[in-house]
Amino acid sequence: MPPPDPRQPAGGAPSRTLRLGHRGASAGAPENTLLAFRRAIKLGADGIECDIQRSADGELVIIHDDGVERTTDGTGIVGNLPYAALAALDAGQGERIPTLAETLRWATDTIAGGVAPFLNLELKGTGTGPDTLVALGRAGYPGPLALSSFDYPTLEETRQADGAVELWLLSGPYHDDLIAQARAIGATCLDLNHRAITPAVAARVAAAGLGLVAWTANDPADIRRLLALDPPLRAIIGDHPERLAGGE
Ligand code: G3P
Ligand code: MG
Repeated sequence: MPPPDPRQPAGGAPSRTLRLGHRGASAGAPENTLLAFRRAIKLGADGIECDIQRSADGELVIIHDDGVERTTDGTGIVGNLPYAALAALDAGQGERIPTLAETLRWATDTIAGGVAPFLNLELKGTGTGPDTLVALGRAGYPGPLALSSFDYPTLEETRQADGAVELWLLSGPYHDDLIAQARAIGATCLDLNHRAITPAVAARVAAAGLGLVAWTANDPADIRRLLALDPPLRAIIGDHPERLAGGE
């Protein structure tokens, strides 16, 4: 069987909800590190969510906060630091801040081992979308993926650069404008805070022909509720992949 086509939009209702480790298996490993990504897959996740930012000199790195203080032994703003400075930091348990290229190599190696991890690459910062597309092309990355962002202009410029890549529009709350926005950029899914996903919202989004993604579901009761929705979610994202994997 050929590898899944990463440029193929999901389209239609998925038959099975993807379980994605939020920043990897971030409850049990340093978030947004290769260790957390490996652990997520080991714990039964179908893939991972991770956050992409640009260093001062344009390297795409995987880190959530604007600053490095919470997750590393360094100080400063990611976008003001050159990659060499970021690469020297300890991101926990001896891990470093991975680059997107390193993450794609990990995912490619995982595919070679027989498992194709789904990558949800969250774009944080103007220009990260087009740059991510370049990195994917350079790596020849063959696996399934979706790019998401809270920042609409970032998704717009990503869509302009690639007419087919799967896009998810992130938001905390649900509001009806999101449906028109998602359609305007050809996003396949609204990617909402799990608390915003009520049966009424799920019905409205499904009627609009869009899928739904839920973040960040950690409580087993929430996970059960979300996995029982019909039509099923495209993906559920959580810090405890083992809970997502055992939730059905
Ligand atoms: O992509 C879903 C979730 O990660 C969004 O929020 O702040 O954890 O990146 P945040
Ligand atoms: Mg994120």
